[in-house]
Amino acid sequence: MTRKCRVLQRAALWFRLALLLLSAVGYAAAAGRCSSVAFPSNRLYAACSDLPHHSSSIHWSYDSAAATLSFAFVAPPPQPKGWVAWAINPTADGMLGSQTLIAFHQPGGSMGVRTYNITAYAPITEGPIDFNASNLAAEHSGGVMRLYGKLKLPAGMTVVKQVWQVGSSVADGVPQKHDFQPDNLQSKGTLDLIKGAISSSGGSTTVKKNVHGVLNAVSWGIMLPIGAIIARYLKTFKSADPAWFYLHVTCQIVGYGVGVGGWATGLYLGSKSKGIQYTTHRSIGITLFCLGTLQVFALFLRPSKDHKYRFIWNIYHYLVGYTVIVLGIVNVFKGLAILGVDHKWTMGYVTAVAILGGIALFLEVVTWFVVLKRKADARSSSNGVQHPLSDA
Ligand SMILES: *[C@@H]1O[C@H](CO)[C@@H](O)[C@H](O)[C@H]1NC(C)=O
Ligand SMILES: *[C@@H]1O[C@H](CO)[C@@H](O)[C@H](O)[C@H]1NC(C)=O
Repeated sequence: MTRKCRVLQRAALWFRLALLLLSAVGYAAAAGRCSSVAFPSNRLYAACSDLPHHSSSIHWSYDSAAATLSFAFVAPPPQPKGWVAWAINPTADGMLGSQTLIAFHQPGGSMGVRTYNITAYAPITEGPIDFNASNLAAEHSGGVMRLYGKLKLPAGMTVVKQVWQVGSSVADGVPQKHDFQPDNLQSKGTLDLIKGAISSSGGSTTVKKNVHGVLNAVSWGIMLPIGAIIARYLKTFKSADPAWFYLHVTCQIVGYGVGVGGWATGLYLGSKSKGIQYTTHRSIGITLFCLGTLQVFALFLRPSKDHKYRFIWNIYHYLVGYTVIVLGIVNVFKGLAILGVDHKWTMGYVTAVAILGGIALFLEVVTWFVVLKRKADARSSSNGVQHPLSDA
């Protein structure tokens, strides 16, 4: 009884430590980059906002009387000879129609900014943009490029659709095509020049992607591992005998149900994503669904405890079960990479997996301890029975 109490107390302590760790991770991630960017003293901006992709930030002052926007866009180019770009798209959402400013090393070597009215997915050509641009300048130091400019906006345009981008190379004074990774495709959204708020790209697809991510991370990535931990470690305690089984089955069936929901949203997103295929993520997802379904149906075919095939069934059940857990966690990481989520979410999931791993390790040790002790007790008591007079 007292040992159980101590175990519970220790578990509570672990839990609190884990919470502390999680909040620390969250805090570090929330502290933000943009407030720590230093500019020369002649460049002061009233507001700044971290942007969700390319480790970039936007700094600005908006003069509503004159409708002018002074801004600095700061981002690390993927290569030292690359480029960084910031744009306002007055007509659409995304690259086409963007009134773009691009900073890069000019053919002479010094940093400069040029303007582009982007009308096609084709090599870009320099030209005038819809907004009168002045005070254009750029710097490249400490691994980041800073793009400065001042734009005259139409009166009343205080919420703009912004698009930002980075690229690795410039050829003959022409910035070359950027990558087509999720970060590159999602670096767009709105910027409220007055309130300072930004919204991320994509609207409803983004919401669906997040729903897909949360459902799958919770089910395949967290619930199924917890169910496995329950089965493996509660079983040791005789007092938990039928209870562990029902807990395990409940946890796995609920996890599987939520997981199927996540899987279905994944198929939907896959069918919507015409241009880009995430083949590995998709294949693992389909494999997971098949193995998970097999596991649920195999429950109904489970031979009774003393049946001669029960041993084989158990081996099958462990193999498929552990495969599902490993693939599930791998696929959550693949999904997080595809979503291009903020670092803190990936860290949050890493922490969750680490906590589950830590709990499993701890329980593994406890289990071995209990099992060995039980064996030792059994031996000494059987000694006592067999040789009651041996010590006399
Ligand atoms: C930008 O391109 C569009 C489409 O070709 C055109 O209608 C618009 O006038 C251009 N803007 C400028 C400033 O040249
Ligand atoms: C752009 O701004 C400059 C300086 O403010 C001004 O001289 C020029 O006339 C403006 N051009 C247009 C097309 O509004």
